[in-house]
Amino acid sequence: MRDKQLIERAFEAAEKAWAPYSGFRVGAAVLLEDGTVVCGNNQENRAYPLGSCAERVAVNYARAAYPALPIVAVAIVSPDSEVPVSPCGGCREVLMEAVRAQAGRDIKVIMADRTGTTVREAMATELLPWAFEFHGK
Ligand code: THU
Repeated sequence: MRDKQLIERAFEAAEKAWAPYSGFRVGAAVLLEDGTVVCGNNQENRAYPLGSCAERVAVNYARAAYPALPIVAVAIVSPDSEVPVSPCGGCREVLMEAVRAQAGRDIKVIMADRTGTTVREAMATELLPWAFEFHGK
């Protein structure tokens, strides 16, 4: 699947976002190795810190439903953003957990603005240098 198609799926998901508090709708589309696409959007809560970002919803959904299928790419978009949507620090950790779960295979992160034409790309490992590592018991 081409980046443009994945971005399109993310925009569709953003339309179903629950973002009444920020008014900032985000959609994410996760591409799995077999071509399956899993989508998510931000889910806010009136107790603000309980809200979830779109990419976290989508990645966790993919990991829950298809644990054996590696994630190849994730597109993150917002119809409300003038700049490409860059995943927050917490979501970068969540992406890195998926990278580890698939034996270090990196994930392409595609970020787009409201037009879907200003696009940035980076690998998950590039987005989180010095990611948290757990070497305890
Ligand atoms: N948000 C995402 O869903 N993904 C991001 O990468 C950045 C922020 C959401 C969280 C919140 O619902 C809204 O955007 C405003 O921060």
